[in-house]
Amino acid sequence: MDTSSLQRRDIASRAPVDAADPYEHLHVEDFAAPFADGRVGWREMVTVAGRTILSLDGPWRFVLDLHDEGLRQRWYAHDDTPVIAWAIPRDYDDGAWQTAPVPSCWNMQQPEWMYFEGSAWYTRVFDRPHGPPGERVFLRVGAANYEARVFLNGDFVGAHRGGSTPFFIELTGRLKDGANRLQIQVDNRRRPDQVPMNHTDWFNYGGLYREVGLVCVPAVFIRDFGVALAPGSGGARIAVDVTLSEACDIDAHVEIEGLAAHRLRIVGGFGRIEFEAAPELWSPRRPRLYEVRLKAGDDEVRDRVGFRDIRVAGEQILLNGEDIFLRGICVHEDDHAAGKTTSEADIRRRFEDARALGANFIRLAHYPHHERVAEIADEVGLLLWQEIPVYWAIDFANPDTFADADNQLREMIRRDRNRASVIIWGIGNENADTDARFAFMRGLAAAAREADATRLVSAACLINRERFRIEDRLAAVLDVIGLNEYFGWYEPLEGLAALFANSAPGKPVVISETGADALAGHRGPAGELFTEEHQAAVLTAQLDAVAATPYVRGIAPWILYDFRTERRQTHLQRGWNRKGLIAADKRTRKLAFATVAARYTALSAGHDGDASVLEPPLHPAKGVAT
Ligand code: GCU
Repeated sequence: MDTSSLQRRDIASRAPVDAADPYEHLHVEDFAAPFADGRVGWREMVTVAGRTILSLDGPWRFVLDLHDEGLRQRWYAHDDTPVIAWAIPRDYDDGAWQTAPVPSCWNMQQPEWMYFEGSAWYTRVFDRPHGPPGERVFLRVGAANYEARVFLNGDFVGAHRGGSTPFFIELTGRLKDGANRLQIQVDNRRRPDQVPMNHTDWFNYGGLYREVGLVCVPAVFIRDFGVALAPGSGGARIAVDVTLSEACDIDAHVEIEGLAAHRLRIVGGFGRIEFEAAPELWSPRRPRLYEVRLKAGDDEVRDRVGFRDIRVAGEQILLNGEDIFLRGICVHEDDHAAGKTTSEADIRRRFEDARALGANFIRLAHYPHHERVAEIADEVGLLLWQEIPVYWAIDFANPDTFADADNQLREMIRRDRNRASVIIWGIGNENADTDARFAFMRGLAAAAREADATRLVSAACLINRERFRIEDRLAAVLDVIGLNEYFGWYEPLEGLAALFANSAPGKPVVISETGADALAGHRGPAGELFTEEHQAAVLTAQLDAVAATPYVRGIAPWILYDFRTERRQTHLQRGWNRKGLIAADKRTRKLAFATVAARYTALSAGHDGDASVLEPPLHPAKGVAT
């Protein structure tokens, strides 16, 4: 995306507040218009596999900006004139009177910021990296919720929307020797035409909540690459594809440690090769990873890749040709102290708890999680469902909303396409079955398959109420039917057996959500809502019904940990969804935890061809399966 045209716009030349008319900014409401066409997306991504990222994490200057004064008064155009030299007063200075850590959610920094929804400005300076001649410099933002606008030394250099995927903005040619001032405006307002829209059952955190850094690459660099078993090759062929930053013709070289080394001809910036190979296949029990090195011109990337095959046959899900049952659990990115910002320790704890539950599968709800999640899942041997937040009442008739969803989907796939642990791309959650929704999500299913032919596509569908069946026309374009059902909680448990008996989906079904709220420590009769006993009874009945239904090939109870949500306000919830099998402290296990763990052991003995016994426990120190 070329932003040079933007600089011809008057935005950069204009002073913070126009001396000719110091009140002009009070009467301009299209203040965001100059930044609408500078948006970056999946095409501008740069693979960071094996690259060094120059971290810009740490304390940034920070201010909340509820009324978008920053755009109205062009805070980005401020010079660093000290206040004693101001001829006209300003409403903002870059003063370090207040800072916020990057990465973090502003909601968690000060109590009065907890429910803030609006814009905020992050500012820091950094020295220009000094690399070889021709080197190119990109800003990488791991994630900003929801919309971000980026300014370098007073110039607008790009924008991004989508709250859970990385974005890249090229800074090459704009950097000064010495200190450069970087400003990022982040806006977490919820809007009906966004993805997700303005109504969700999870907390709306805001900020630069994942890492920020600089990526330096040669003039011609590897923008994207894929290494995987060739679909349909029965594990006997590997396919490698490479996309360069420029449409040039060069040779690339791929080396897979101990397995293969090949030259790959790149023409017009793209190359693909397939070759015979017999890698040890990756699976939860044997998460075998191979070191991969890819060189093209002056660039080199490295990754650790697992080779596995995932596909469906009839009503079965086959991992490396074996029928597998997905013993799952759902997780949000949420923490009582850190909000949506996660850490290596938080991720590994999540996996430890999932493994203790007997799970081999995790549904990462309801948006792409941190990139370290799939990387660590590759190491420890867990299967993942990863999705975009096409959640509830999306503005399905809006082409711009589709463009947002399509971009987030492709960004998610580009980022994680070499992660063996990811087996399912989820394209929606609990969306009403309308013509507009069907067209929108059929488009997303096609986009997912175009971007990645090696994985399954699913969505968390709802029950067909009229026919009381597992039936959704979207199923025609899905490989696996995800089904969210809450028999025993939102509706009587008796309906579950009737539903399963009344359905003939013809392809594998995974119960993508089911469960019940229980406040940890709230004990009582199993018939009393919100008790631990009731939650355990519901999940017992759910797992019994699943075990008796051959076309159900997985279940992921909602959810591993209680999580924050503004919309749950009974005295037993008080802003938290209590369906966790573990309380929000991520330590206190409820009765249902043991219930599910016991069932998963039994289930794995019956259904799961991949592991006659549960996957070996992890060693937290090493973080890998034995
Ligand atoms: C829905 C939704 C979840 C929500 C859950 C619940 O299925 O997908 O995001 O939290 O139900 O009601 O707890």
